[in-house]
Amino acid sequence: MQIFGVDIGGSGIKGAPVDLDRGDLAQERHKVLTPHPATPDGVADGVREVVDHFGWTGPVGLTFPGVVTGGSTIRTAANVDKGWIDTDARALFRERLGGLPVTVVNDADAAGVAEMHFGAGKDRDGTVILLTFGTGIGSAVFIDGELVPNTELGHLELHGHDAEKRASSKAKEDHELSWEHWAHRVQKYLAHVEMLFSPELFIIGGGVSRKAHKFLHHIKDIRAEIVPAQLQNNAGIVGAAMHAAEH
Ligand code: BGC
Repeated sequence: MQIFGVDIGGSGIKGAPVDLDRGDLAQERHKVLTPHPATPDGVADGVREVVDHFGWTGPVGLTFPGVVTGGSTIRTAANVDKGWIDTDARALFRERLGGLPVTVVNDADAAGVAEMHFGAGKDRDGTVILLTFGTGIGSAVFIDGELVPNTELGHLELHGHDAEKRASSKAKEDHELSWEHWAHRVQKYLAHVEMLFSPELFIIGGGVSRKAHKFLHHIKDIRAEIVPAQLQNNAGIVGAAMHAAEH
């Protein structure tokens, strides 16, 4: 079965039809830049452009980079326009996509669900935490394979700062940090999360997962196993489609 998945990020809106049996994209993904400011209207237009690129007319699963309650209502918007807060995102996207059935889920939760089914978290019990490092830091917490949604661990306080402002991959770019320097910050962040949750496994997702060889060896003194995400930057798209299939 195929469902269309869209991953809305701080820098790009990416989508493709997803083959749910294989947990992979059925076609090469299409990407448009996230408008700035990333208002509901501008983002919805971007989503329509991505979906129209494939002439898709079936169900669409979308991710959103903030807290999503009830599969529809946006509660936070750290890296997109604040006009999103309290928006009924499902209604907005459905209207903009000409009435196609849509679902909306937090981006890190979507990536986590995809990794737990098809990637680095497959068959892993206990506490597993996927962290995505991108424009912000997203988190997905699993207990024996079950997601605890909307955990928002990227906003833990680290040395008096919002953790994602110090350790996201955007922070690495903004402050022109070397891989080693940035890895040191990630290590401090992981140590903090480990102190709170004692997970068995950390899965490192987001665009940096492709470059794990550049920084993972600099991360030390963490008891949990640390592995890069296997679906890499497609996890959000696949997870969005899986979420749509379930709902
Ligand atoms: C948001 C999260 C999101 C993460 C990654 C954070 O700023 O609060 O909801 O998962 O960024 O996009």
